[in-house]
Amino acid sequence: MAITWLEINNLFRNLLNEPVRMGEKYRTGIPLVDSHHAQVFIFIEEIRQAIRQKQTQEQLMQTMAKLEDFCGYHFSFESKIMTKLGYPGADDHTKTLVSFTNRVLNNWKTSLANGTLHPLEVVYGLKTTVVDAIIAEDVKYAQYFADNGIDVSWIETPQDLDRGKDYVGTSTPEDLKETFKVVDRDGGGTISPEELALLLKNLNVKASDADIARLIKEADQDGDGEIDYSELITIMTNSSQTSSQDGISWGEINNIFKALLNEPVRMGEKYRTGIPLIDSLHAQIFIFIEDIRQAIHNKQTKEQLIETIAKLEAFCQSSVSIESKILTKFGYPGADDHIQNLTSFTKRVIEDWKQKLANGVLHPLEVVQALKTTMVDSIMGEGMKYAKYFADKGIDVSWLETPQDLDRNKDYTDTCSDEDLKETFKVVDRDGGGTISPAELSLLLNNLNLGASEEDIARLIKEADQDGDGEIDYGELITIMKS
Ligand SMILES: [Fe+2]
Repeated sequence: MAITWLEINNLFRNLLNEPVRMGEKYRTGIPLVDSHHAQVFIFIEEIRQAIRQKQTQEQLMQTMAKLEDFCGYHFSFESKIMTKLGYPGADDHTKTLVSFTNRVLNNWKTSLANGTLHPLEVVYGLKTTVVDAIIAEDVKYAQYFADNGIDVSWIETPQDLDRGKDYVGTSTPEDLKETFKVVDRDGGGTISPEELALLLKNLNVKASDADIARLIKEADQDGDGEIDYSELITIMTNSSQTSSQDGISWGEINNIFKALLNEPVRMGEKYRTGIPLIDSLHAQIFIFIEDIRQAIHNKQTKEQLIETIAKLEAFCQSSVSIESKILTKFGYPGADDHIQNLTSFTKRVIEDWKQKLANGVLHPLEVVQALKTTMVDSIMGEGMKYAKYFADKGIDVSWLETPQDLDRNKDYTDTCSDEDLKETFKVVDRDGGGTISPAELSLLLNNLNLGASEEDIARLIKEADQDGDGEIDYGELITIMKS
């Protein structure tokens, strides 16, 4: 079928008006992959809006550069996942991914810079390559895993790529020594009653003075009233794993430490709200927590740790504003309370931790424990409540994928203004001469993957060219596009 103006018009209107959405169609069911893909869709949507928002060439090039970096980052994970889980098409897919990043994206950047390619053509290119070809292929490997009964639902963090599904770490003697340092805050070589009391307080464990005295007595073999390293190791390894009837036991303290040291903090299904935008923010928070949890294992410096906490703080701030908007937009009755909680958590609690970490009165493992009880159990627990409220009220929130969606409705599409159409004209009139020549029309169709012969071009020009000068001016284009 020969190409018609109607098709060209539809294609342009589609690019200008319709948000590029991930939806269910491109969901692989691998949490890490899906949250990466969601980010790619956000980039595409940003590029698609470049015309409407009158972004400068520099802003556009910046987004392209970010997209390129992100693709490289994502593809390296994706190759690892496919290889790790034995997908037969792994090598081919990886080759496609690498050549896409190296050649295609790079080409686009160059062409955008010299004006031979237009943002809308890039969006078209991204839709046909990244979305329809590459991400569609990702759905195939996900299908392969499903067909072969390979569970991939637990791959949430980059760290998971080096782990098995039910991975738990093991504590080395060195880790236990670090645990001792957590408690021996003044570095004196022994744990005093005050140090033990501070530890339990930081871990949110209720302990009376009598409890502290009893715990010290149970561990203190040489009777000096404090606990040294070898006494701690002895009591931690020999203590009963059951809870004591008289309050907190060494067995419980041991279990808390082992869990913090060994067990990855996972989002799992339990904290999934079903709102894609929220779930990907939450997934990122779990990655932060896991980063902090590994601070000891990875021997991170205090500076690295405080940097991660600062990033978490900034991330929480932007998440709070997104979450607030969603709760208010959909009329969740607990919105105000929840937002207050979030704001005070970010402003006061995290700030407080940063300072205490810096002064050495708080330890990374204690921060992880606090994050687990506040951020995860209490704040995200509340997230499950509002998700349930929306479900009970039949409010569909599954389409909330991008920050832009917060200002839209479910079935939102843009409408072309005359100014948008004028921009469309500029897309085609590459030399800015005020008319579209046969060569310019041919380049456009080529960029949009619409193969057109010389006869097609001549016919299209003739159909639009009212004054018979052999080219199409703005008025002629608008007339033919609107007809
Ligand atoms: Fe992918």
